[in-house]
Amino acid sequence: MVVRLDMKSFYITTAIDYVNGSPHLGHAYEKVLTDVIARFRRQMGDQVHFLTGVDEHGQKVQASAKKRGLQPQQFCDEVSEEFRALLPKLNITNDDFIRTTEPRHKTVVQAVLQQLFDKGEIYKADYKGFYSTRQEQFLQEKDRLPDGTWPELFGEVTEIVESNYFFKLKQYQEWLVEFLTKNETWIFPAFRQKQVLEFLKEPLNDLCISRPRERLEWGITMPFDAGYVTYVWFDALLNYYSAVADKPGVWPATWHVIGKDILVPPHAVYWPIMLHAAGLPLPGGIVAHGWWMTRGKKMSKTPGAGEAINPLELVDEFGVDAFRYFLIREMNVGQDSDFTREQFLVRYNSELANNLGNLVNRTLNMTTRFAAGVVPAAEVGAGEAAGAGDLEKALQDLWAKTRDELVPLGEGFQFHTALERVMVFLTETNTYIEKRAPWKLGKSTEAKDGALLRTVLATIAESLRLSVAAVQHVMPATAEKINAVLGYTPGAVWRDELTWGGTLTGAKVAGALVLFPRPAPPEKVATPAPAKA
Ligand code: MSP
Repeated sequence: MVVRLDMKSFYITTAIDYVNGSPHLGHAYEKVLTDVIARFRRQMGDQVHFLTGVDEHGQKVQASAKKRGLQPQQFCDEVSEEFRALLPKLNITNDDFIRTTEPRHKTVVQAVLQQLFDKGEIYKADYKGFYSTRQEQFLQEKDRLPDGTWPELFGEVTEIVESNYFFKLKQYQEWLVEFLTKNETWIFPAFRQKQVLEFLKEPLNDLCISRPRERLEWGITMPFDAGYVTYVWFDALLNYYSAVADKPGVWPATWHVIGKDILVPPHAVYWPIMLHAAGLPLPGGIVAHGWWMTRGKKMSKTPGAGEAINPLELVDEFGVDAFRYFLIREMNVGQDSDFTREQFLVRYNSELANNLGNLVNRTLNMTTRFAAGVVPAAEVGAGEAAGAGDLEKALQDLWAKTRDELVPLGEGFQFHTALERVMVFLTETNTYIEKRAPWKLGKSTEAKDGALLRTVLATIAESLRLSVAAVQHVMPATAEKINAVLGYTPGAVWRDELTWGGTLTGAKVAGALVLFPRPAPPEKVATPAPAKA
């Protein structure tokens, strides 16, 4: 890895997934979102380190392995492979993949535990209370519903009495409140930070961070007491640090990307306090995204055959970029979204096939037909007598406005809005083509029409090149394909790619490119209107 001194280090992570089930849409989304942020930061010139991985310890994994009649390690090896295989399928550019059963992780977890123990941050005490295996979490009376039952989220709740190790969480409550008050934008979106502060109005309890070995085998042994293993959250959270503990200059993370369900208390309370107590720097912030829902419920597993659709199959059916595009375009980071095949197809047809696909077809087709496949130069003043030039100017102005918004929108995780802006620009470019009707200009023998035609071809090729640069972190493979048919190799500095110019003048374009083919019948969906050119 070449580290340039002028580059800003940007370390980003996803949550690490439990391996007690197969990957589903929620997991896929988080990887895609983090990848889009990582690619965006690379484009901005940062030195990015991108970590993802799997969470392999705990009761749930132990139980799932048992159900399958496998040893936990064997079971983890198998399921982890499924999660790992998802990454290239989604075109994820992670630099590292951590498994919590790896020695590099265990060593760091034990070292941190020992350090905290030596500092007196951990003590042993009797514990009596309720435990949710599904959430791997001790519950409190306040977690009950008004009727005294436990919310469904916790699954089966059992009462247990045992001796355990506790981490002195309580004593850091004030510190955390002060930290969050001073660092107002630590959690994105902002309303989640308010929720954390609200949560912190209630007194914290110390955190039980061990499980007796007779109850839970499958965990990291407490370094100071072999009769216990480490609580799964204490183990899991440390992955962000253990993966880079031997890489100087990488820690602290810039952002942890997680789902809203694991913000409070693990990421917003336990994690900052653990780091603070261990004398480690805190991450730059946490991005808490919302949930993909189906029929009003959180999607939480891959549906079986004959049930609802499996969203990951859309990758095979429509290609990885259409899938990535949909996830990023549809979801406003932090909010929930419904996943339906119908909505996917609406966006696929109207935005990808009709808008982008059409512009690609028209650009290639007309450049081939009217300019022997070579992008001409725009001719300044072309057709001025007829007031021409205004349409080109309007399109260039729209681009300038769009371009100016791209960076702030990306920096603020507003990728859905950025895509929407690019779609507006593409729509306007297609409208511009309709207005200029190059197919008519091509039939004219007048010199001014010829000049205008060349201007149109140059304008639409440049519009297409710019749109591609604007979406390349969301649809990298598509961007590459389009640049290739435009005979174009982008430069190293992304921001420079966003400037309107005669960049493609003289480029030799390919004859055709099929990008977003229509879905096979018998789908009952709106089909895109045929391209004009
Ligand atoms: N192992 C813990 C995380 C430990 S991080 C130190 C865990 N695993 S998980 O497999 O249940 O979830 C992994 C990530 O997927 C979480 O960030 C979670 O929010 C996200 N999603 C799971 N289902 C989801 C949706 N339906 N929609 C969007 N993301 C959701 O929690």
